Amino acid sequence: MKIIRTGTSADAGVHAARIVAALVRDKPAAVLGLATGSSPMPLYEALAHEDLDLSQVRGFSLDEYLGLGSTHKHSYAQVIQREVIDRLGLTPSLIHTPDGQAPDAAREARDFDARIRAAGGIDIQILGIGSNGHLAFNEPPSSFTSRTRVVELADSTRKDNARFFDSLEDVPTHAITQGMGTISEARHLLLIAHDLRKAEAAARAIEGPVTEDFPASMIQLHPHVTVVLDEAAASALQHS
Ligand code: GLP
Repeated sequence: MKIIRTGTSADAGVHAARIVAALVRDKPAAVLGLATGSSPMPLYEALAHEDLDLSQVRGFSLDEYLGLGSTHKHSYAQVIQREVIDRLGLTPSLIHTPDGQAPDAAREARDFDARIRAAGGIDIQILGIGSNGHLAFNEPPSSFTSRTRVVELADSTRKDNARFFDSLEDVPTHAITQGMGTISEARHLLLIAHDLRKAEAAARAIEGPVTEDFPASMIQLHPHVTVVLDEAAASALQHS
């Protein structure tokens, strides 16, 4: 595992963006795993400043709230449209987010996994980390072999994410998420964390016991991981 410690969140974004840019220069039709939330935003901002044609890049979002359609202002599909597709000049038809309003959500989840496989798998999976150690919406405990599926959100996650909604009641209770097994099949995991509120979670993911009770600790089992941290998020590391 490679740990990159940087100064600010913007610096972390620049380092992470360089890794993605190098891949796309080498492989213009690369497959990216796309995260939402505040963690990857500095990466997307920095990537927009790279001199790079991203129009052939294919992408798969990590997760989506159950019940929110792709046009709902708080859906992850909208966040991906706004923050990633529009900003980076990606081709909308090449970017896939689970449909939170699919009539059969379990089937939508299975099909999503199949679509990732059909694309040849994910080259770089961009990841944030939840304060409770979740990756995507894989709440503790989550099996390391789990596939894309419907999950119930932890109360702490709904509270964490309430800042993106008008009220806590508006935060959906369920989501479709790539599974831990799905995520671990990506060829390169690129985890980005900034802010003091992520310091404890980052330290447990990198240095703590590997356990399904703290899903992000799975990264210790993966052969190709880069973690980019700003100074605050790196502040609880003991050995790295
Ligand atoms: C959210 C998302 C995750 C994200 C995490 C951290 O609930 N489902 O994919 O990585 O929680 O969010 P943030 O980056 O806003 O702190």
